[in-house]
Amino acid sequence: MNHYRELRRALARRLGPRALIHLEGGRSVPRNFDVDYVFRQNSDFLYLTGVEEPGCHLVLEPKSGREILFVPRVDSHHRVWEGHVPSPAEAKTLFGVDRVMYADELKKVLGRRAVAPKARLRDALDELRAIKSEGELALMRRANEVSGAAHRAVMAATRPGMREYEIQAVFEAECMKAGMRHLAYPSIVAAGVNGAVLHYRRNDAVLRAGELLLIDAGAELKGYAADITRTFPADGKFSRRQRDVYQIVLETQKDCIQAARPGVVSADLHVRSMRRIAEGLKSLGILRGETDGLVEGGAVRLFYPHGLTHMLGLDVHDTTGGKKRKMPNPTKVPVRFVAKLEPGFVITMEPGIYFIDALLRDPALRRKHKTSVDFAKVESFLDFGGVRIEDDIVIRPEGPPLNLTSVPKEIAEVEAACAR
Ligand code: GLY
Ligand code: MN
Ligand code: MN
Repeated sequence: MNHYRELRRALARRLGPRALIHLEGGRSVPRNFDVDYVFRQNSDFLYLTGVEEPGCHLVLEPKSGREILFVPRVDSHHRVWEGHVPSPAEAKTLFGVDRVMYADELKKVLGRRAVAPKARLRDALDELRAIKSEGELALMRRANEVSGAAHRAVMAATRPGMREYEIQAVFEAECMKAGMRHLAYPSIVAAGVNGAVLHYRRNDAVLRAGELLLIDAGAELKGYAADITRTFPADGKFSRRQRDVYQIVLETQKDCIQAARPGVVSADLHVRSMRRIAEGLKSLGILRGETDGLVEGGAVRLFYPHGLTHMLGLDVHDTTGGKKRKMPNPTKVPVRFVAKLEPGFVITMEPGIYFIDALLRDPALRRKHKTSVDFAKVESFLDFGGVRIEDDIVIRPEGPPLNLTSVPKEIAEVEAACAR
């Protein structure tokens, strides 16, 4: 409760004594006829209150320090079908706010008073949410521990012949057994060629012997995400070719993790990862030419078409930190997340190498990159799928970051975790 109170106070300070802050929580969303989707609270609302009920509001008055939480007034019909909803008196002790009223009393309180413009509130929240407090870090550490254990359980349980969704069930059951009912995003469980689909969601194919399994999955705790990817062989032993590609991704990831320090620009780290991957693909005879040209000309992007890193928090692709932190991209490659890293940022590190049909068979791209890419060699990799390795790290004031993710990733460790 203190944790949330501190964050509300920080927001009130940021917006100044004249502001009146009104934040609406999420509402239930219909799925079909009279069935709603499982409710997920609005991230800003979770940030400030931890309240996971739909239909709430929050009003903060920095000048007086007044805080009012508004909860929905429900009738006995609602209680019969949906069960108990905290009354104002219960909500007061449950959520540690000074005052709780019914949502239908909101107008009475706000009256005609002007609330802080949405853009100002948005920016203040983005600024604050970028730096994780000790309380937030504790939640994120725990979400990562449980997700990590679930990834290890998946490595131990996976066998050729299983459907991707059976493997998904192993992951999700482990999270639930540990008390985490919600996932941070839909699990990506991709066998063989499906590993080359970046946000693969079907999860219904059979994993075959000789294939890799790529699993990108994480639990959520009080809204805080873990975002972890591992790639491992269906039969527990990497083939020569799998080992070669995996090792390039692994070395790239470890190199970028140790380089993630305060003041480093995220886009520069991305270029660093592209260079490592270009050099690795050259060593496999897939790319040829100067590394700079391969990176700036876009040939590497055929095999690594996503960012190295993004912010992580209440949203799996979390806020990039508000207007104050906006800066021009200092690199020659397009990248979405451009910011100077600061202590308290939690970010992912997730390089990958993929053999994506839609890119590698595209006639225009083949013409464009014909001198940089050995497309005959690429042909033999079109059944490969992809490798991604993703950990979640905290930037520290000095030295290398703290890695929240503890799941085997060295080849020998992965093979041991898959041992049968
Ligand atoms: N799981 C989505 C991502 O890695 O960004
Ligand atoms: Mn990610
Ligand atoms: Mn991910």
